[in-house]
Amino acid sequence: MSRRGKERAIVIWLSGVCLLITLMVAIGGITRLTGSGLSITEWAPILGTLPPLNEKDWEIAFGMYKASPQYIQVNSGMELGSFKWIFFWEFIHRLLGRFIGLFVFLPMVGFWMKGLLTRPLFQRVFIGFLFGGLQGALGWFMVKSGLIDRPSVSHFRLAAHLGLALCLLAYFTNLTLRVKAGEFFARPHENLSRTRAPIGFWVFTALFVFQIIFGAFVAGLKAGYGFNTFPLMDGRFFPGNAWALEPTWMNVIENPSLIQWIHRSLGWGLLFSGIYLFWKMVTRSDGREGSLAFKPGSHLAVGIFAQFLLGVATLLSGVAIPLAVVHQFGAACLVILWVRFHFHLTRIPH
Ligand code: HEM
Repeated sequence: MSRRGKERAIVIWLSGVCLLITLMVAIGGITRLTGSGLSITEWAPILGTLPPLNEKDWEIAFGMYKASPQYIQVNSGMELGSFKWIFFWEFIHRLLGRFIGLFVFLPMVGFWMKGLLTRPLFQRVFIGFLFGGLQGALGWFMVKSGLIDRPSVSHFRLAAHLGLALCLLAYFTNLTLRVKAGEFFARPHENLSRTRAPIGFWVFTALFVFQIIFGAFVAGLKAGYGFNTFPLMDGRFFPGNAWALEPTWMNVIENPSLIQWIHRSLGWGLLFSGIYLFWKMVTRSDGREGSLAFKPGSHLAVGIFAQFLLGVATLLSGVAIPLAVVHQFGAACLVILWVRFHFHLTRIPH
């Protein structure tokens, strides 16, 4: 196979991985928002591939759920039919996780045996695969926190699970772009040389990372169900009970009102940086001759604007499921746009 043919096959495969992770993030959102995440009370990576296949198996799975705090405190009296519905989403989420694992592993071995993967590329895909396995374990670690005494998962573990999913997405997106540019096939510096991203980019990145963490806290603490007005919160800029917990610092990580306020404020920060970025990109005033980053930069800026509006719409709707799912999906799309912008910002054609 020609070098270009090899690259194309690997780019298609890795793009498929990115697409599946993005889909997985959206299905994770549906699972959380439909209250389905605690319906399967065991972790059976191999045996769990099959759902209950007869009434007896369903009764066993339902019986285990009936012993969980979510059933006892929130869903007592639930019928088997409703249980099957929440089970469906959690099952699909886990099944897709296994499928992504195979989708990475099998072609990785096949390409490697055919000599299509260079050693550094094989190593990188393998590392991604291992972290994918860790993500499965982290998912279970999160679910376990909701099976002990309270009927919801720890928002810290939820943030870790969402955070690792988005890191994996960023990792595979970056790998895809690098393969596409020929960086693993003996022509690393054929057309492009590398440079550093400016400090402004990293300031923006810090805002973006904190926004995702606080978004996950808002989701995990169900903080989006309070203060469904915008831009003020109950007629005030700053919520009255923002410092209700003791000690004071605890409010930053545990108080839903303050956490929602932080997520809104970081949203404003990102919106203004997005406007600034857009202006820089359309006026082509980033000071770099022939930069490849103008288009990806303006796409990222437009993405931030859309995500801001989606966040506001989610809040005003009282967290309507379709809007909240699209907001979660939007965060994954922004990660892709952010990696793409970084990639082009740090490559200069010669
Ligand atoms: C502009 C950049 C923004 C980013 C990158 C972002 C990102 C996130 C992320 C990652 C989550 C957690 C998962 C989920 O989406 O449900 C989240 C949740 C949430 N965000 Fe944002 N967000 C942004 C702006 C906003 C704004 C401006 C608002 C409202 C004023 C907002 C309101 C919400 C709400 C209510 C939730 C919880 C939704 C739920 O419970 O499912 N977001 N956000």
